[in-house]
Amino acid sequence: MDVDVFTLFPAWFDWFRGQRHVANAVALGHTFECLDYRATTPLKAGKVDDVPFGGGAGMLLRVDVVDAALRARYALDPVQLPSQRRVIALVPGGRLLDEALAGELAAEPALTLLCGRYEGFDERIVEHFCSDAVSIGRYVLAGGELAAMVVCDTVLRKLPGALGHEESAAEESFSSVLEGAPEYPHYTRPADWRGWTVPEVLLSGHHERIRQWRRAQSRARDEGPSLP
Ligand code: 6GU
Repeated sequence: MDVDVFTLFPAWFDWFRGQRHVANAVALGHTFECLDYRATTPLKAGKVDDVPFGGGAGMLLRVDVVDAALRARYALDPVQLPSQRRVIALVPGGRLLDEALAGELAAEPALTLLCGRYEGFDERIVEHFCSDAVSIGRYVLAGGELAAMVVCDTVLRKLPGALGHEESAAEESFSSVLEGAPEYPHYTRPADWRGWTVPEVLLSGHHERIRQWRRAQSRARDEGPSLP
């Protein structure tokens, strides 16, 4: 998979790129590149944003700036781009990211993520250059960068080999193996800490009983929040 992230803060992604599953994915031949809108802006003095027509607070990323950035990267008119690859605008009001969307994106050969800053995007960017608008939750971040990292984290970890241990991505929270339910609880050594013991069944060595217990725990967690 080829992932391109357009941002005003490419340096933010240096840390992200160093995370193990991201580095593993890149070592496997996938790409993760960050493009700076400022590097290709047609405006003077690196300008990329402007005040909203009609008034109001904040600044918007300009459509001509994003047009130039996409054109420079892909050597085509960016209105053609969504027919070639998923182009995702990160916006607070977009389609909520969940495990199903992550799985859908992980099956794509190429993704382009557009981070907005300030108050966000001129709407024409989303309308004409994007195939998707995605949100990571119903709250407002100062920009799309953290949301892009969240999207890339959950997508890249699904690529075969990225985690380095294949079964862990299959039987986990919200996966179809668990019928969309949250994952069962896990325990490790010590088996007794301050009198807090590990469920006996997990120490029993009875694989079928363990499997049934885990399935039941997963289903029970699906019925409601059990975290304190
Ligand atoms: Cl994708 N962007 C911003 N700016 N805020 C958000 C978001 C995205 N998702 C949740 N809040």
